Amino acid sequence: MQAWMFFVLSRNAIIESFHQHHNISAVLDSHLFSYADGALRCESVALATLADRFGTPLYVTSRQSLVGQFRDFEAAFSTLPHFTCYSVKANFNLSVIRTLAAEGCGCDVNSGGELYRALRAGVSPDRIIMAGVGKSEQEIEYGLVTGVLMLKAESVSELKAIDRVAGRLGKVASVAIRINPNVTAETHPYITTGDSKEKFGIDEAELGEVFGLFRTLPHLSLQGLDMHIGSQIFDPEYYVAATQKLLDVLATSRLLGFDIKWFDIGGGFPVTYDPQKPATPIARFAEKLVPMLEGLGVTVIFEPGRFITANSSVLLTRVLYRKRNHAGKEFFIVDAGMTELIRPALYQSHHEVLSVRLHDDSVVADVVGPICESSDFFARQRVIDNAGEGDLLAVLSSGAYASVMGSNYNGRLRPAEVMVDGSEAVLMRRRESYEQLVQNEV
Ligand code: LLP
Repeated sequence: MQAWMFFVLSRNAIIESFHQHHNISAVLDSHLFSYADGALRCESVALATLADRFGTPLYVTSRQSLVGQFRDFEAAFSTLPHFTCYSVKANFNLSVIRTLAAEGCGCDVNSGGELYRALRAGVSPDRIIMAGVGKSEQEIEYGLVTGVLMLKAESVSELKAIDRVAGRLGKVASVAIRINPNVTAETHPYITTGDSKEKFGIDEAELGEVFGLFRTLPHLSLQGLDMHIGSQIFDPEYYVAATQKLLDVLATSRLLGFDIKWFDIGGGFPVTYDPQKPATPIARFAEKLVPMLEGLGVTVIFEPGRFITANSSVLLTRVLYRKRNHAGKEFFIVDAGMTELIRPALYQSHHEVLSVRLHDDSVVADVVGPICESSDFFARQRVIDNAGEGDLLAVLSSGAYASVMGSNYNGRLRPAEVMVDGSEAVLMRRRESYEQLVQNEV
């Protein structure tokens, strides 16, 4: 077959699959992101209006979607005594944290900086748990002085450091130990964390020594058991296997006389990025996990991040240029790039790209950014509405691990962020200025 024939055939196949599966409701909540009169809107605000008002690139978050996701999560586990700590690493904008905290969630933070953010958002320290495989002594001190609910320790050396710092402060530290359950969940290798090849958590073989430390070190109090097996995990059986291991550790801790209050099974619950790969509903996880976790005499902690925020935001970007190369390949060159959403480059992840204004025809094209890296793309060989230069595109599922993983590479300015609530839109982060790019240089 000649190359052009292959191209036409595969293009037709892609277009067909586009028409069969191109269904916004499969990815985003269709009530909150929808087309009205051929134009995409968030709640009842047209995205084009937001681009005019705030410029592009722009992260647009639906407040109702955030709240709805949190409530869906809570409903799934409502029969269980539990405490949901939103993992702020997914999206740590103060307004996002504040919105969720007002709904009753606590926070899981991974550093001093995230702790600062949660506190600045008004979250009470006794509703914050602190993770991190490499907490510095300053971060440990910050957590202890603030009075967080507990520090989740990941090694023997860290436990000794926590004891040392707590001793210096004249405190007893409330601690959970993060177990590495050695369960390899099927997900992208960069986001699996519960496998013994990974740096995370304390190995089963070390537990004897760890329990011993709680007997000998006077400034440590064992309050919780913890795990987190990875992210974007579709099969509940991985949670079942890891939870079983954590239950075994609970039994051992009790035999040794420890009074465990918190049983933290982490985050990692999946969302749909690609309509052809729909995420397992949260209820399926609850069906398997609730019976295992009932009646244990502990409070179960969950740490969802992505589940709450991923599909609550889009990244709004403007087409700068259209270009077609000698091989007939089409490009949309847009004003956002890997500095605003690195997930396609880092994890080969799929993000739907929609034209903000509906067109009658479509093309097969790559959607690429302005950064000088070949990995700077949002979509490759994708069927897209035949939008023109100056038109707007929305990159979906940009609410988790997007803005927070952003950078100033290539001298890029971090975009503005807005939150929509009904017919209102408020700025929740200003666009960066050139002056801010150099403000710390002396
Ligand atoms: N708890 C702990 C201890 C974690 O390390 C994480 C995520 C979470 C909770 C929340 O996981 P989630 O529910 O959001 O899956 N940048 C990657 C994801 C890295 C996740 C790191 N840890 C991505 O864009 O896919």
